[in-house]
Amino acid sequence: MAIVLRSLHFLILLYVSYILLALAQDEKGFIYNGFHDQANLGLDGIAEIHPNGLLQLTNLSQEQVGRAFYQFPIKFSTTNSSSLSFSTNFVFAMVPEVNNLGGHGIAFTISASTNFTHVLASGYLGLFNDSNNGHLTNHILAIELDTVPDPEFEDITENHVGVDVNSMISNESAPATYFSNEEGKNISLDLMSGNPMHLWIDYDDAEKLLTVTLAPTTIPKPDRALLSAPIDLSQILLESMYVGFSSATGAVTSYQYILGWSFNKSGPAQSLDVSSLPPLPGKKGNEKPGLAIISSLIAVPLVLITVVIGAAAYIWGRKKYEEVREDWEEEYGSHRFSYNNLRKATKGFKDTEVIGIGGFGKVYMGILPSSNLQIAVKRVSHDSRQGMKEFVAEIVSMGRLRHRNLVQLLGYCRRRGELLLVYDYMPNGSLDKFLYSNEKPNLNWVQRFRIIRGVASGLLYLHEEWEQVVLHRDVKASNVLLDAELNGKLGDFGLAKLYDHGTNPQTTRVVGTVGYLAPELTRTGRATTFTDVYAFGAFLLEVACGRKPIEGLGLPERVILIDWVAKCWRKGHILDASDPRLEGNYMVKEIELVLKLGLFCSHSKPAARPSMKQVVQFLDGDADLRELPYDSASFGTYTSNESSDFTSLPFSQASGPSMSITDSILRDGR
Ligand SMILES: *[C@@H]1O[C@H](CO)[C@@H](O)[C@H](O)[C@H]1NC(C)=O
Ligand SMILES: *[C@@H]1O[C@H](CO)[C@@H](O)[C@H](O)[C@H]1NC(C)=O
Ligand SMILES: *[C@@H]1O[C@H](CO)[C@@H](O)[C@H](O)[C@H]1NC(C)=O
Ligand SMILES: *[C@@H]1O[C@H](CO)[C@@H](O)[C@H](O)[C@H]1NC(C)=O
Ligand SMILES: *[C@@H]1O[C@H](CO)[C@@H](O)[C@H](O)[C@H]1NC(C)=O
Ligand SMILES: *[C@@H]1O[C@H](CO)[C@@H](O)[C@H](O)[C@H]1NC(C)=O
Ligand SMILES: *[C@@H]1O[C@H](CO)[C@@H](O)[C@H](O)[C@H]1NC(C)=O
Repeated sequence: MAIVLRSLHFLILLYVSYILLALAQDEKGFIYNGFHDQANLGLDGIAEIHPNGLLQLTNLSQEQVGRAFYQFPIKFSTTNSSSLSFSTNFVFAMVPEVNNLGGHGIAFTISASTNFTHVLASGYLGLFNDSNNGHLTNHILAIELDTVPDPEFEDITENHVGVDVNSMISNESAPATYFSNEEGKNISLDLMSGNPMHLWIDYDDAEKLLTVTLAPTTIPKPDRALLSAPIDLSQILLESMYVGFSSATGAVTSYQYILGWSFNKSGPAQSLDVSSLPPLPGKKGNEKPGLAIISSLIAVPLVLITVVIGAAAYIWGRKKYEEVREDWEEEYGSHRFSYNNLRKATKGFKDTEVIGIGGFGKVYMGILPSSNLQIAVKRVSHDSRQGMKEFVAEIVSMGRLRHRNLVQLLGYCRRRGELLLVYDYMPNGSLDKFLYSNEKPNLNWVQRFRIIRGVASGLLYLHEEWEQVVLHRDVKASNVLLDAELNGKLGDFGLAKLYDHGTNPQTTRVVGTVGYLAPELTRTGRATTFTDVYAFGAFLLEVACGRKPIEGLGLPERVILIDWVAKCWRKGHILDASDPRLEGNYMVKEIELVLKLGLFCSHSKPAARPSMKQVVQFLDGDADLRELPYDSASFGTYTSNESSDFTSLPFSQASGPSMSITDSILRDGR
């Protein structure tokens, strides 16, 4: 009897839990002000929930994914009258490893499946892989909070919100801003600031409109949305879908959190109660009162232990990270900085002092203790001992280059596996930030034209006015730095050479940046002054048009700036290519000159491009740039027509630059 009763009991239990489950599955909405025990979340990857209810999607481990999905599928009926509309809002925070630099971001995701075992970690926000990116069979809608600009995915800035349908290439995107009702204007937000922010996503099935609204948690939902994307989700949302978050880290990392989440399938999602959300770790004011006493009890022995360990580590560290100084460096004495000074200047290479991360390594801001001089210190990792002597010789010789439009190299310091290069500090950062990001003010034409002329004269100095020819090899807006008065200065000259001293001399690596590489450079791998002029042409167009040389890299619908400008020019409307943010406020003659000169420098035949000397003459008005030849095959990426000859060239003195000047001090194998 007891057994029968017990099994009946068991059956009832089973039945009840079945009903509960069924009820739960039918649930149309939920609200979590913090994720406490009852939160029905399935975690995946490195995601975890803190005891205080904070959902942490990623930590500082590189190339990792963290996901959290609501455990039960949500019914998005497609065959029935029931609509596909939904509404959700959540509060997130991304706390970077390094000042403002982290990755990759968070995506609110609606997906047919929560099995992502086939997916790659980095770059696809943990949602897609190489082969299925863009496939209709993915059935994934994601709203991405993306903090790493990926040209492959046509990302607009390093700080944007995008609507992704089955693909990492966003259907719609916008730089992270919010509309301030009070001030009546858009205000930029830094997604990586570490501060909590609120995102609302609403889909109206009747209007087929997806709206996304962003704001700091300190204000209520703004009246105007950041994105309003007309989108038909009927092919994307299946009858039963999972909702949740996916997040990934790359080489740079950040803690990525969700503090609270509200979702509703049958009406507007309730707003979160911001005041009851769990606090972020490390924010002041969370500490329990008793903790102070306990910590002081532990503190004394701890300090002793720390001192002992610290001393040991110091001795060991000195050995391991000691400055490397060899005899041959004697002659460079004055260019040599002591590691100790650089360490002090950068507060021990503290992450808060990082002002950039480039292809070569991190750049720190510092103040030399002796002179109060502001400096920028670039840490370049360099493992090969071979070639170091030559490289340092080049560095030092570059330190002797002096020009008002070159970022001054002050000196260097060498350590095992690492080279530190010390430059003048440029308070306004790089030009690309002004051209493409909302954070910096727009530059007017007068400022832009002055920067162009400055950079041209800096490059002319490198090519023709110093005792030897120096190739830059990576001219682009992000290598142009601006001083306090917004004067343009070329940085990183000759540094591309570092790659050539690499370990494997067999592989000739083309140095430079896609979009700025002359066609012959990709063929021959040989950099010349002509290839620098080509890159300078791309730079001219970049500044005049406010667009990157290639937008949507890797896509069939990508825009190649040179081709587009050439098209406008052929139609007789070259000014159509000018940056709309200039709002027509420019000297027509000047901007026309810059656009045409940009095309001219991008001539597919190297010898047909002007020299930097001629470029400077044109910009200064000392020589006339006659009409460009109506030769559609000459510019940009077209390389078919090799017949256009020298006599049709549009500059006054048709003497091409002689080949000999390409002999550079930076020649291999000195
Ligand atoms: C991140 O989390 C994972 C899983 O919890 C753990 O294995 C890893 O050590 C963590 N990484 C860091 C840097 O804390
Ligand atoms: C359509 O709706 C009816 C009730 O309105 C329901 O019985 C049926 O299961 C639904 N069909 C689908 C495919 O959702
Ligand atoms: C996820 O999918 C893979 C195949 O892609 C399969 O091998 C694996 O068993 C699935 N995992 C779960 C938990 O369903
Ligand atoms: C990519 O994901 C799809 C499933 O969406 C899977 O069939 C395919 O094998 C994956 N490809 C790779 C290279 O992992
Ligand atoms: C999203 O964009 C892709 C191409 O970029 C297009 O094929 C697709 O139809 C778009 N999806 C929607 C739902 O608009
Ligand atoms: C604010 O931003 C939105 C979305 O990017 C844009 O559509 C709108 O024009 C902007 N409004 C103002 C006043 O700048
Ligand atoms: C969902 O919307 C309905 C209709 O407006 C409302 O009654 C319900 O409380 C909402 N639920 C949640 C969890 O927001």
